[in-house]
Amino acid sequence: MPMMPGTILRLLTGLLPGLLIAVFLLAAAPAAHAQLDQVVTPNSPSEKEEVELYQQLQGKVQGYVSIPDGKLATLVQPQGRDWREFRNYYGRIISLVVMGGMLLGLVGFYLFRGKIRIAAGRAGRTITRFMPIDRFAHWLTASSFIVLALTGLMLIFGKPVMIPLFGHEAFTAMATLGKYAHNFLSFPFVLGILMMLVLWIKDNIPEKADLTWIKQGGGFLNNGMHPEAGRFNAGQKMIFWTIVLGGLAMALSGYMLMFPFYLTGVNGMQIAHVVHTLGTAVLMAVIFGHIYIGTIGMEGAFDAMGNGEVDLNWAREHHAGWLKTQGISTDTRDGPSKVSTRHDPHPPGMPAE
Ligand code: HEM
Repeated sequence: MPMMPGTILRLLTGLLPGLLIAVFLLAAAPAAHAQLDQVVTPNSPSEKEEVELYQQLQGKVQGYVSIPDGKLATLVQPQGRDWREFRNYYGRIISLVVMGGMLLGLVGFYLFRGKIRIAAGRAGRTITRFMPIDRFAHWLTASSFIVLALTGLMLIFGKPVMIPLFGHEAFTAMATLGKYAHNFLSFPFVLGILMMLVLWIKDNIPEKADLTWIKQGGGFLNNGMHPEAGRFNAGQKMIFWTIVLGGLAMALSGYMLMFPFYLTGVNGMQIAHVVHTLGTAVLMAVIFGHIYIGTIGMEGAFDAMGNGEVDLNWAREHHAGWLKTQGISTDTRDGPSKVSTRHDPHPPGMPAE
């Protein structure tokens, strides 16, 4: 679909800050790696001695302690070096590539496809899609997720990005506050995930129609073609399961970091941290796609979580299977029949936007 220069300009203006940050972070990451090399080596033995030490002891330096905390007997744990490399270098690069790749993909998709419009225009009548409790669960999860993501990323990119920008003192204050926010907001986040699981699981069970939806690319690439879907289509189901299972994996790994060594030893803590970092990259990328479709990507979609009501023709085009279960006509040529609405932003007779 050809795009107006004004639309492209607006899009670029909106995404520019995100892109600038991604470019900045990409530029900063190699410097961080160089910094890592410097920090690790100054007081280490010479390279030759180091190699001999590790060969001799098969990579581990194990001593003996008489205190109850037996793990303190391990003086050098070789996996720690790999983990540190991941923490200070690969984790940052992977996060940038996954999140930045998704952002670029979305920009490309928008330029190619434009906003997905309601093909038949607005019906001017709405149907209730989400009850207040559904929206409460959604916004509780979403708002705590955003703070968790920002405060978490602050820890990953604090050293190479924020300290050079704000200085050590300001960063210490921000990181301390961020750390409290990260710890405490984990609880509403988990509550929101569990609420969504209970409220929506019955509509997110995979079914045969999902395969047709996937084969037809959800109708996203083809203007006007809408494979039939129930209350949630296959794409939404994938997002649901990624958020629920990914969110619970973040919670488990996160609480393992918050309460160290209760469930596992040093190596387990390292694995929990790696899971937490990779989970962040995947969840952030999925959420970028979700926010895109819910806002600038699709006409009429935001209303569902905004006020709980969706336009009848939007529902007919994207969730005909759901309307059938409500006993409502799925033909966009039919008038707004048999629809119970709580409020009517576009009364019949009023021209659709
Ligand atoms: C129940 C949910 C969660 C819990 C309990 C939790 C807990 C934690 C803890 C304890 C840390 C270590 C902080 C420190 O260094 O002292 C951490 C780090 C982090 N968290 Fe979470 N978190 C949760 C959810 C999330 C979510 C949803 C995201 C992102 C979308 C996220 C992203 C991060 C990141 C990026 C780090 C920094 C890792 C690093 O320093 O390399 N967390 N989290």
